[in-house]
Amino acid sequence: MHQCTSTNDIVESSARTGAPHGFVSICETQSAGRGRLDRSWTSPVGGVWLSILLRPPGRQSFLDSLPLLGALAISKTVSAQLRLKARVRWPNDVVVDDRKIAGVLAEAKSMGNELAYAILGLGINANFNIDEIRETTNAATLQSLHGAPIDRVALICAVLFETENLYELLCTGKVEKIISLVREFECSRGRNVKVKLPSRELLGTVDDYETLGRVCILTPHESHSIDTSTVLSVEYQSN
Ligand code: BTN
Repeated sequence: MHQCTSTNDIVESSARTGAPHGFVSICETQSAGRGRLDRSWTSPVGGVWLSILLRPPGRQSFLDSLPLLGALAISKTVSAQLRLKARVRWPNDVVVDDRKIAGVLAEAKSMGNELAYAILGLGINANFNIDEIRETTNAATLQSLHGAPIDRVALICAVLFETENLYELLCTGKVEKIISLVREFECSRGRNVKVKLPSRELLGTVDDYETLGRVCILTPHESHSIDTSTVLSVEYQSN
């Protein structure tokens, strides 16, 4: 599709009319792309803006696992295809040298305690000039890091393939396997962070991933088990 409001919107309306698990929407540009916590997400022509419909087995913890899973799929793909050191940065970013190259947004439709479906939205800064997303601080595009425009079709195919493999692991209960891959491809552990939560702020160090949706933060006298879905923002301090 050339343009849409948000690929998550396309997947949502398709899900309501019966689109199957695995349905994917890809747009060249989004007029109302959104990020975590309803922030706007600028989506110029040349990026990779896509969303995947997941009709999952149905628990909230499943939804909470998706941002890290999506970020891992992108990190693995970019590292392998473009030989860039792409890393997952908790809670939902992919960075190269601490510059954001991608973000992940997971949304869901609930029916009582069950999830009817989930939507995994992936946004990758691929082939455009970084000035087009000036409001995002410290971001980069793959084109600038790679030194030439990248093959978006090859990237999309590989990201979808990785996502499918990781999703399969999630659905078959192999969460520990995914967490060990996250540990291999992440750059947050050991870093000093300021984590904003609805009722407090923590200044501490990222310790480890307890689950895909829960991270342990160490402050000078305590350890805090933080549910990622409650996090309003994470600021990384230079260690
Ligand atoms: C973030 O970093 O806050 C998440 C950004 C997610 C952006 C992607 S682009 C494809 C999909 N459609 C959207 O509107 N958002 C996600």
